[in-house]
Amino acid sequence: MDAPAPRHVAIIMDGNGRWARQRLLPRTYGHKKGVETLRTIVKAAAEKGIDVLTVFAFSTENWKRPEKEVRALMHLFVETLEKEVPELMDNNVKLRFIGDRAPLSREVVEKMTQSEARTKDNEGLTLVVALNYSGRDDILRAVKAFKERKDSSPQLDEELFASFLDTRGLPDPDLIIRTGGEYRISNFLLWQGAYSEFYSTAAYWPDFSRKEFEKALKEYTRRDRRFGGLG
Ligand code: IPE
Ligand code: IPE
Ligand code: MG
Repeated sequence: MDAPAPRHVAIIMDGNGRWARQRLLPRTYGHKKGVETLRTIVKAAAEKGIDVLTVFAFSTENWKRPEKEVRALMHLFVETLEKEVPELMDNNVKLRFIGDRAPLSREVVEKMTQSEARTKDNEGLTLVVALNYSGRDDILRAVKAFKERKDSSPQLDEELFASFLDTRGLPDPDLIIRTGGEYRISNFLLWQGAYSEFYSTAAYWPDFSRKEFEKALKEYTRRDRRFGGLG
């Protein structure tokens, strides 16, 4: 019997730069094109009744890139949030960000907070954008927050620890898709992805389509998830 559809799909949107280079275009064109793909996939996920879609937009390691690229990405985040919130409203999508906001500019943080506030009552798909996110950093910040807590909480267990992570309240991802052909997790949802099914496709993110997305979802339903048991 096929497994049920995933509740939470997470995507490592990789390959924008290579997509652009293939066309002799600057890397930033790839990032712009990537926003169009995201729009398509958000719509598809909402239509399919997926509860949560998490996308990796910028990792804590991506600051290592040339300043010009980082600046262009930050500008793109602001521009995209300005433009896309009305469409998120039309599609009943609730937006939420994970990652450390402290190193981000005031402009970026303001746009993030505003768009979260505007979409907070939407009850369809939850779109989680991982911005300045990494799994290790998430865990480290959770440990620090736990140490600083005011109330003396009960015994620390997995459930309590998870409530200190950026993803508190969300189900763990059932499926993690990576575009761009690599087979690595690149410090994405380390705690949350402990038992996620992994799917890698060679398609660069700007070329990833609704059809490719459906292919990944279909493959997921054929996986045998045993969680350490015997299935
Ligand atoms: C993913 O595409 C987007 C970000 C990391 C911001 P890349 O920019 O990593 O594209 P490639 O992997 O260099 O092709
Ligand atoms: C992962 O892609 C991060 C995002 C998609 C935002 P990278 O391009 O940064 O990953 P590596 O460097 O290939 O592992
Ligand atoms: Mg990459």
